[in-house]
Amino acid sequence: MEPKAILDFICRRRSVRRYQKKAIPEEILEVLMKAAMAAPSGNNVQPWEFVIIRDPKTKEALSRVHPWVYMAAEAPAAIVVLGDKSSEWWEDDCAAATENLLLAAANLGLGAVWCGIKENQAAAVRKILGIPARLEVLCIVPIGYPAESPPPHTKYRKDKVHRDTYGQKF
Ligand SMILES: Cc1cc2nc3c(=O)[nH]c(=O)nc-3n(C[C@H](O)[C@H](O)[C@H](O)COP(=O)(O)O)c2cc1C
Repeated sequence: MEPKAILDFICRRRSVRRYQKKAIPEEILEVLMKAAMAAPSGNNVQPWEFVIIRDPKTKEALSRVHPWVYMAAEAPAAIVVLGDKSSEWWEDDCAAATENLLLAAANLGLGAVWCGIKENQAAAVRKILGIPARLEVLCIVPIGYPAESPPPHTKYRKDKVHRDTYGQKF
């Protein structure tokens, strides 16, 4: 792939918070799971698990877990990313999996948003979904065909890049 095509692929991912009422086909959900589970993981432990939620009542309950996950109610699906805390890298690994999922979604014409779940918000998610104690909750990803189209962007800033030692510029 050309460098520009790679950058286009990555920058196509934006946070999308409004969705069409169109279901996501099962085979597309499977592609998203395959993309997520292609992520790197510490010691190759692959501590991630995922819950795909389409049930309206469950999505509604999740949308109330904190004020910034409201879009889970209207999204045709929400994906909850879980990590096995017996791996010391579970957060890093699940974050990598989430980004893979988001990149795949954007390039399949879907819109999604990473909604972080703090430790003090996780109990509510655990209760709603019946998550076993060995698993932690990283985030909720509401997802659907987009009803808004934020333009691609990179947020590149040259001043954030250092050469050879901190503070040394190009
Ligand atoms: C760890 C993390 C937690 C986030 N939590 C939320 C959230 O709860 N609700 C939300 O609407 N967006 C959330 N976002 C999305 C950010 O607001 C978004 O990535 C940022 O504004 C940049 O916009 P972009 O994703 O379109 O590039 C979160 C992103 C990350 C990485």
